[in-house]
Amino acid sequence: MRTVGQPSGVGRFGSPTDGIGRCPPTVSVSAARIVPNVISFQTHFQARDDDIILASKPKSGTTWLKALVFSIVNRTRYTPSNTPLLASNPHQLVPFIEFTLFADVLQKNSAVKVPDLSGIPSPRLFSTHIPYSSLPESVKDSKCRIMYICRNPLDVIVSSWHFGTQDHPDRARSVWTNMEEYVDKFCNGEEGFGPFWDHVLAYLKVSLEKPEKVLFLKYEDMKEETIFHVKRIAEFIGFPFSEDEEIRGVVKEISDLCSLSSLKDLEVNKNGKFMPNFENKSYFRKGEVGDWVNHLSLSMAERVSKVSEEKLKGSGLTF
Ligand code: A3P
Repeated sequence: MRTVGQPSGVGRFGSPTDGIGRCPPTVSVSAARIVPNVISFQTHFQARDDDIILASKPKSGTTWLKALVFSIVNRTRYTPSNTPLLASNPHQLVPFIEFTLFADVLQKNSAVKVPDLSGIPSPRLFSTHIPYSSLPESVKDSKCRIMYICRNPLDVIVSSWHFGTQDHPDRARSVWTNMEEYVDKFCNGEEGFGPFWDHVLAYLKVSLEKPEKVLFLKYEDMKEETIFHVKRIAEFIGFPFSEDEEIRGVVKEISDLCSLSSLKDLEVNKNGKFMPNFENKSYFRKGEVGDWVNHLSLSMAERVSKVSEEKLKGSGLTF
């Protein structure tokens, strides 16, 4: 990390990533603490044309997309038997901008630390939950590519609820008291990284206007046709599979390696931690489309569906 207003020097971890872009754990994730991180990212980040940025609302399939993109990009370097995915959570391999790379940038003396990302080899893989409108101009103006993954809001609600309450009960209880209240807040757009529908629609709009800039993915479509989407992702980021690779089953191999059951079963994802407060296992639950029926009452589901229908009207997007 470099510190603005102070002599440059070696940062907290010496370098933000190791040779394969893997990040050491960071310390805090509360909303108030990430705002300076986001501002620093907006102010200082210089995108490269070959950067690849994965964007999403939390609990939309970010972890899965990270594992797939890392595997696609690095497939000539690693095989399923020696891939870093065996020893690292996907969030360490494709770091979050606001939680990890630009973590805790605000210092006690009000100076702002700026990470030096210039040493990361191309293509750099980053991820973010930041809305499109809040991305740095450098990201929007460069040729860097963004992949956005979205998911049925009903399943996002249920996944978020489990992530928040089961795995981090103390933190969650201070925010939501029960599912009904959480649904209410979700529908009112009172949640981290802004209202769900605004977030999704903004990325969708750019994907339609500039398909070479943003690839818009749906979790449900990826579950249904994983192989097709792995190939689509590879093409979009400029790493298409050759005919020979397809014949040799490389696409299937990557899809299998990155499946929920495969990642969930790894020791690192059973017992490891990605940040002090985040156990790797909390990123791998059921991964089922439509699990919301087991957790939301009819009235809660109707409320979300009504808002969803209104918000998505005319967009062509359905869940
Ligand atoms: P559920 O809670 O419905 O099971 P995110 O990665 O954005 O935090 O989203 C987490 C959701 O994606 C969780 O959904 C999790 O189980 C699911 N998930 C994680 N890894 C996955 C994978 N490899 N394939 C499919 N779904 C996955």
